[in-house]
Amino acid sequence: MRIGMLTGGGDCPGLNAVIRAAVRKGILHYNDEFVGFLEGWKGVLENRTMPLDLKTTSGILQLGGTILRSSRTNIKKIEGGFEKCLKNLQEQKLDALIALGGDDTQSISVELAKRGIPVVGVPKTIDNDLSGTDVCFGFDTAVSIATEAVDRLHSTTESHSRVQVVEVMGRDAGWIAVTAGIAGGADVILAPEKEIDLDDVVRLVKARWEIGKRFAIVVVAEGARLPHVEGQLTVGEKKDAFGHARLSGIGQALSEEIEKRTGYETRSVNLGHTQRGGTPTAYDRMLATRYGVAAIDLVHAGKFGQLVVLKGNQITDIPIADAIAKTRTVGEDIFDAIKSLQPSK
Ligand code: F6P
Repeated sequence: MRIGMLTGGGDCPGLNAVIRAAVRKGILHYNDEFVGFLEGWKGVLENRTMPLDLKTTSGILQLGGTILRSSRTNIKKIEGGFEKCLKNLQEQKLDALIALGGDDTQSISVELAKRGIPVVGVPKTIDNDLSGTDVCFGFDTAVSIATEAVDRLHSTTESHSRVQVVEVMGRDAGWIAVTAGIAGGADVILAPEKEIDLDDVVRLVKARWEIGKRFAIVVVAEGARLPHVEGQLTVGEKKDAFGHARLSGIGQALSEEIEKRTGYETRSVNLGHTQRGGTPTAYDRMLATRYGVAAIDLVHAGKFGQLVVLKGNQITDIPIADAIAKTRTVGEDIFDAIKSLQPSK
């Protein structure tokens, strides 16, 4: 078969591992041929490609980013966009297309599938908020980076008797915040799922001083909301093609509130894109490889319109449309676990 591949949306450690696994199994076991579209759906729209073979996908397993590069191009917003894509996909004489991406990228996969394109999806987002899969690759790496940052911030925060706020990624779901927060032993953990209660934040910070530990660490997801501010905090007015604002600033705003209300010196750091950069963890390389292998098997089984997912420890598949229908948010059990580690009111 002749198969196209693309990576769309924000990049994520493990994308190259998926590409490598799919190409290797495809060539070595099915005698497939591959073509890589550059910069996500933009490459399909403009018919810009690169060869994907055993040589071009060798030595990339441990590399962060994506050799195919990425973009947030939204075909739905481009006049005649789908027609151009269909023409280019036909010109490339493809039997199938494998799209690696989160909900935005997969929303285009769904539209192309409706128009008869045989698409298979692979779930990608460090936010880990795609429904239908227990884990997206890239999440483990992001959490490891954030946890290391929280660990490192402990010594300097304690030396200066400060409060340190750490802003992590997580637009609509607080998976990185709760996981790195629990793993790093943060005193306060704040996620987009629950509006921030400033009185409670102050109470938890002060409780640290009361037990004689004269410092506190607060982890907050970029998408968390302050009660006195409308909506999420953003930088600038710009939105991407899918309508998402650039989230940033909750850490700084929160640290100002904490300093004002407690009198303790409070600093903030925003880990930002550091969480998406660099080499994937062994867990992510393994998961990405399993997804790549499963994606090429789905193609050969003719199961189009499906997304490979992890359920428990088993790789299986679900309709792409189901995966993007709703965001997978952090459950009450995790928030209860956080509460059980904190002094009660
Ligand atoms: O979609 C994942 C994500 O990392 C979000 O957590 C974050 O808000 C966004 O991407 C940032 O994307 P960009 O690279 O466009 O700034």
